[in-house]
Amino acid sequence: MVVRERKTETRLAVELCGIPLRTPLIPASGTLTKEALGEVEGVYGAMLPKTTTPAPRAGNPPPRVAETYAGMVNSIGLQNPGVERFLEGLDAFDIGLPLFVSAAGDTLEEFGALCERLGADERISAIELNLSCPNVECGGLTFCAGPASVEEVVAVCRRATGKPIFAKLTFEGVVENARAAESAGADALTIMNTIPALTIDAHRREALVRGGLSGPAIKPVALRAVYDVCGAVEVPVIGSGGVTSGIDVAEFMLAGATAVQIGTASFVRDPKEILSELASYLDKVGLDTADLMGALSS
Ligand SMILES: Cc1cc2nc3c(=O)[nH]c(=O)nc-3n(C[C@H](O)[C@H](O)[C@H](O)COP(=O)(O)O)c2cc1C
Repeated sequence: MVVRERKTETRLAVELCGIPLRTPLIPASGTLTKEALGEVEGVYGAMLPKTTTPAPRAGNPPPRVAETYAGMVNSIGLQNPGVERFLEGLDAFDIGLPLFVSAAGDTLEEFGALCERLGADERISAIELNLSCPNVECGGLTFCAGPASVEEVVAVCRRATGKPIFAKLTFEGVVENARAAESAGADALTIMNTIPALTIDAHRREALVRGGLSGPAIKPVALRAVYDVCGAVEVPVIGSGGVTSGIDVAEFMLAGATAVQIGTASFVRDPKEILSELASYLDKVGLDTADLMGALSS
């Protein structure tokens, strides 16, 4: 057996759309606050704040979050201060890493204008299009409703900016939607967002949170979606959905992901531990992250 002498940093590094990342980990949009930034030094390869929209949004009324077995349901509803205030505060997320920004609009025009605005900002390395939030009514339009709408919105954004565009999709129709996003010019795909879900309080006979399920409960679904999409497109795939340990990260990379997002897990675990578990796994198997991508033996 060849013993590898490479440093841990080199072993963890990946490249995403020509952007070098020190580690394959990226915070999932909406799950890392400015306040927690001090605790994640050295963990992530890129930053990714909560989705921004053209105008401020108050989000959905409470209750917005409920715990479930092996996960949580949220219905935050893209609460955010709007793109102008978002950009004013963006320096807080500049911790010397590539900065990705998540964007959503209600109409094609809004998506296009937002991408033009974000694309003109030199601090931003790439734009992730949130085409799949399950708890937002997009002015009658659902951008992930099918390949035709995915293709249309990605094409508008593609014309609006030369920056790398990632299309974030949900699991419904994911392969067809992934192909549509790729053919419209997406540089990468984020697979996947939360899954539509509902919690009910039986004692009070009340519906509680109608939103998106995240956390370990959705991991096998996300893994399948990543695996199927990686077999169907050429562009890189960023895995998201239930990643909770370093071994989970390795599994997503084996399924073909180039980078992996950590969301709900960061509410219950220190992401540093997830990274160190990944490093230990790589040491044990004698591989680099680059060797892992799609390297399933069957
Ligand atoms: C509290 C919360 C807020 C979220 N906000 C956003 C958001 O603003 N934009 C977005 O694209 N995804 C958002 N998501 C979805 C996550 O980015 C991620 O895709 C999803 O939770 C699945 O990953 P996980 O199981 O690791 O959390 C949010 C998820 C949670 C739990």
